[in-house]
This record gives sequence, structure tokens and C-alpha cells, in this order.
Amino acid sequence: ALPSFPLNNGESIPAIGAGCWISTPGGVDDAREMVENALKIGYRHIDTAFAYQNEESVGQAIRNSGIPRDQIYLVTKLYDIHHGSVQEGLEISLKQLGVDYVDLYLMHWPQARDPNTGKVLQPNEHPNFVETWKAMEQLLDTGKVKSIGVSNFSRKNLEVLLPQAKVIPAVNQIELHPLLPQLDLLEFCREQKIVVTAYSPLGQGHPDLITHAVLKDIALRLGGVTTAQVIMGWFVKKGIVAIPKSSNPARLRENITYADISADDEAQVDAIHRVPGMHRTLLMKYHEPGGKLFGWTYEQLGW
Ligand code: A2P
Repeated sequence: ALPSFPLNNGESIPAIGAGCWISTPGGVDDAREMVENALKIGYRHIDTAFAYQNEESVGQAIRNSGIPRDQIYLVTKLYDIHHGSVQEGLEISLKQLGVDYVDLYLMHWPQARDPNTGKVLQPNEHPNFVETWKAMEQLLDTGKVKSIGVSNFSRKNLEVLLPQAKVIPAVNQIELHPLLPQLDLLEFCREQKIVVTAYSPLGQGHPDLITHAVLKDIALRLGGVTTAQVIMGWFVKKGIVAIPKSSNPARLRENITYADISADDEAQVDAIHRVPGMHRTLLMKYHEPGGKLFGWTYEQLGW
């Protein structure tokens, strides 16, 4: 059986889930197909978001599977335009998914957008993420969310939030993979008992990661495993939840039948980001000072 990791509120989260951020055309149907395949193969953790525009497809796939709702760990996210209407944001997601509750509800991004203009609000405008978080805390009493957490929060964001929070976020979901190890943020989250979920855990399939020589050597030595299985084994070993996606059932299966790697192999994978130049070719170019993500600079994000 797939391992689970304990959360800071007594709940637990399956270590590997199916990520539903499908950025390709036809993505909505792709999400239904992927979730149907994933549930058949043995995934019991599905990660979606209002922003992915596929909650209805994900809900349909869950119903089509015939697997009881309470055996699936379902995650969705509060979108930026709903920071000022948190309860309503949740209700829309529940309705679209066709479920009574979600296991984990995440604030998708630290900053709100104006629901009318779509404009990103500045830190001195309202609601800020602390105000939004306080509204999310209220959701726990409704029984419609089992846990609450955040996503795309930097250490700086968390250092502002935590002293004002009644409930410590159960999870921070961030972009993380061996070439983007987020060491400082990861350590901070561990100290604060916040479980980290890695999105784009396979570096979006980038060859610099998937065909990395060190990973290939480890896979070859273990025999009969792929580099993706080594990467997934690295996540499990580190206690980091990972939510890879694949349109291909064989690769979906590969990603939950991860390689059981040794501490020595783990240390080798830990070291690959230190090779200069290598990581610059990946999406993390956005993480450089002055870098942009979806039109926001990292300074705006407070990173
Ligand atoms: P495909 O859908 O053709 O399998 P991430 O989850 O990090 O965003 O990565 C997703 C990308 O990685 C997709 O392009 C997917 O392509 C590819 N991918 C998923 N699983 C594997 C795997 N086991 N081996 C190689 N590539 C994979």
C-alpha cells in the first residue's frame, strides 16, 4: 500500500497523488481520463483547484470509479478572486466536484485578485492573506473541509501568517523537485510542522531532470526502474508529498510504484541541483531575482 504522512492536526495525507493541473489543450477531458486511470491504477489522492477549471470532470471521474468518497483524499484550492468570499468559493468547488466535503482546502496563492477586474491586490489592500486565512479557519467548523493549508507561500509569507494564525496550515504546496529543492522553505516548514506537497515534481518532464546522468546511474544500478521512479522514491524518503501527472497510464503506474532508494542514493539526488547551469534551463528561471510568474514579480509575491 502507498504510504501516508501525518499532518499536524491528526489527519494524514497519501504520499503520492495525481496532480490535475493539465496545461495542454483539451485539458478538461484529459483531467477526467487521467483521474479515471489514476483511480483504477491505485491512486487515492487527487489534487485539483477551482483555477484548473476541471472540478466537474474530476468529480465525474470519482463517481465513475465507484470508489467510496471516504477512500479518496481530495484536495482543491481557493482561487484568487474568492479571497473576499471564502465560504462561497468553497461552496462553488463542492458543487462542481459534486461532493459534501474536501479533505484539504488550500489557499492557491498568497495574493487576492479583484473579482471584478481580475487585478492582483497589493499587500496593503484587502483582503490580505492573513484575513483570507482567518476566513478559511472558520471553514473547519462546517465539516466541509477536514484540513486547511496554503500553496505558493514563501518562508517570508509564512513568517507573516503564522504569528496571526489560530490554525497552523497543515500543508504548503509548492513547486519542488530535485533541481529546485527549496531547501530553506522546506526546512522552515518542517520546523513549523507543515507538510510540503511538491507540484511539478518531475520538473514537468524536462529532460534535464528525467534524463539526468546521476538519476540514470541510480536507476541502472537498482535495475528495472526508471529515473521517474527514482525521483518519486526520493520524495517518499524525504517525507514530501508529490503530485505528478501523466496522460499515459503506464507512466501513471510507474509514478506510484516508486523505487525504494537508499540513504546514499538520496544524498546523490540531493546533490544534483548543485551542478552549476543545469537548473537554469528549467522553469525555475522564474525564481531568479526579478523573475516573473504569471505576470507577478517575485518581489510582489514577497519572495
Ligand atoms: P506524459 O503526460 O506524456 O506522461 P510534472 O508532474 O512534474 O508536471 O510532470 C508532468 C510531465 O512529465 C508530463 O509532461 C508527463 O508527460 C511527464 N511524465 C509523467 N510521468 C512521467 C514518467 N514516469 N516518465 C517520464 N515522463 C513523465
